[in-house]
Amino acid sequence: MCGIVGYVGKKKASDFLIEGLSKLEYRGYDSAGIAVINNGKVEIRKHKGRLSNLVEELSNNSAEGTIGIGHTRWATHGEPSDVNSHPHQTSKGDITVVHNGIIENYSELTQWLKSEGYEFKSATDTEVIPNLIHYYYNGNLFEAVVKATEKLEGSYALGVVSGQEPDKIVAVRKDSPLIVGIGQGETFIASDIPAVLNYTRDIYLLEDNEFVVLTNEGVEVFEANGDKINKEIYKVTWNEDAAEKGGYDSFMLKEIHEQPKAIKDTMAGRVALNEKVNLGDFKLTSEELENMDRIYIVACGTAYNAGLMGKVAIEDLARIPVEVAIASEFRYRNPIVTNKTLIVTLSQSGETADTLAVLRDAKKIGAKTLAITNVVGSSISREADSVIYTMAGPEIAVASTKAYTTQAVVMNLLGMYLADLKGLLKSEEEAEIKNALLELPSKVEEVLNQKAQIAKIAKLISQEKDLFYLGRDVDYALAIEGALKIKEIAYIHSEAYAGGELKHGTIALIEPGTKIIALKDKMISNIREVKSRGAEIIGIAYENQEVDLSVFDEIIRIPQISTRIAPILGAVVLQLLAYYVATRIAPILGAVVLQLLAYYVATERGCDIDKPRNLAKSVTVE
Ligand code: AGP
Repeated sequence: MCGIVGYVGKKKASDFLIEGLSKLEYRGYDSAGIAVINNGKVEIRKHKGRLSNLVEELSNNSAEGTIGIGHTRWATHGEPSDVNSHPHQTSKGDITVVHNGIIENYSELTQWLKSEGYEFKSATDTEVIPNLIHYYYNGNLFEAVVKATEKLEGSYALGVVSGQEPDKIVAVRKDSPLIVGIGQGETFIASDIPAVLNYTRDIYLLEDNEFVVLTNEGVEVFEANGDKINKEIYKVTWNEDAAEKGGYDSFMLKEIHEQPKAIKDTMAGRVALNEKVNLGDFKLTSEELENMDRIYIVACGTAYNAGLMGKVAIEDLARIPVEVAIASEFRYRNPIVTNKTLIVTLSQSGETADTLAVLRDAKKIGAKTLAITNVVGSSISREADSVIYTMAGPEIAVASTKAYTTQAVVMNLLGMYLADLKGLLKSEEEAEIKNALLELPSKVEEVLNQKAQIAKIAKLISQEKDLFYLGRDVDYALAIEGALKIKEIAYIHSEAYAGGELKHGTIALIEPGTKIIALKDKMISNIREVKSRGAEIIGIAYENQEVDLSVFDEIIRIPQISTRIAPILGAVVLQLLAYYVATRIAPILGAVVLQLLAYYVATERGCDIDKPRNLAKSVTVE
């Protein structure tokens, strides 16, 4: 889980490499490094810590040259340190590599290469790669990379340079993302499209085991046997600004505010009042549905939490049993998957290793597979039988927000589609749900307009060590997501409980002053139970819902719409809450002031909103 970039052109390579890496820092930020070919020699600059450390080093010790590769690291093998930073180089020459992924057989390869006289400096799995390529190098870098990859087990996206062939980068991917950008007189590689978007919109989406050679003459893509592949150009149509902060102080805040549009886009062409729900290439016949033995929704983290919403929607509407499973657990269970099972893999990035592995296992068994993902061309989208995209646009912040609400919307669409196929959806019900869905974007706007109040409340709880989130039914699923948000970006220990469950043990932890965030619906007696033990309650209730103010210390109102859909709005409140707690914002003087204030409070407190500690956006390792 790292980011890699590469540049071949006529300009100073390090300028693009640094800019590209800054767009990929969400993939990891334990260290950063570049290698540039200068007069036939590979020069490396690398540094532990954020990219800014590398930038500082380059300001004192610049790296000249028009061909280069770069890397931003999320440590998996070996601590974050200068020596473990990429690029890595063979001990016997100058073959130099940046790598994203994990080499599973690196220890046996290391032993063997040591016996061949190679020396190793780092604790990384990556260092075997340049040594292996050197071992096979016989005057042709492309061939040596092909031979080396035959020995590698695991996942990799690689960028390789050598002073012996100073005019090129060789790159390849297997189970780790890699794209090629084709510019005017310059070409690029990158782990993700935003890295090259300031330079080109013409992209090759590489498949596994496709090898690329970038030179000043252009890009050639090959199979391992040397046969040339004619790749189709993918034209990026989304706005460049979509990958930038657009005036917000953090991607997370921007993405929270993008939710009305993201939800609208996700429904576009799928929900219309007088038409059936259209899920594009996901089509089942009534017989296939009749024969289906079960549905599993498999996902990780926030996507898993959206899956919990999906279970409720599908079971409520279509009366089909659904099990929601954590992907990393599912792989090690003995789940009942047959060729009559539908496996729904839910993933913002479409690259999450655990989810991808479940998809592959399910396909081997012959199960029907459906991907719900946000990233076009991602591994999960390509490998599933069919795919429904959430149209949230790029989600850069590590903490997922708009992906979650759009996943929740798609879950409702899926429930409606299946219910309709079973003949269970009455037309009035269908109209009510569609109306509610279509209203959702403007209702989310209304919630966003309450951010000053939410910021104020967030301040009240920003110094807590522990928080409890309570909910019932769908609100319990939301509570789980709310607790995750606050953990990951505010580093406050938080637990989500089903309201009625607390009294079976955990209520022992409640003492005077304990802060509780309660999604009020259907739970008032449970709230009273904790209130009478001295807890302070922040309630989230629908507008016009009757509320006993002696029980609640604070109340956040959300708009009332159809009950099945309305809880999604609760999620927006929780995201905002998490956001503002993280930044300890003083509320009050409007959005702009709050955003500016958020930045300074976050800096003072050391909470980096978009890059929370120990986390990376896309978890492409097991
Ligand atoms: C969400 O805020 C987290 N960053 C994380 O739990 C994430 O949802 C999880 O890693 C799954 O990612 P995916 O949706 O890209 O598969």
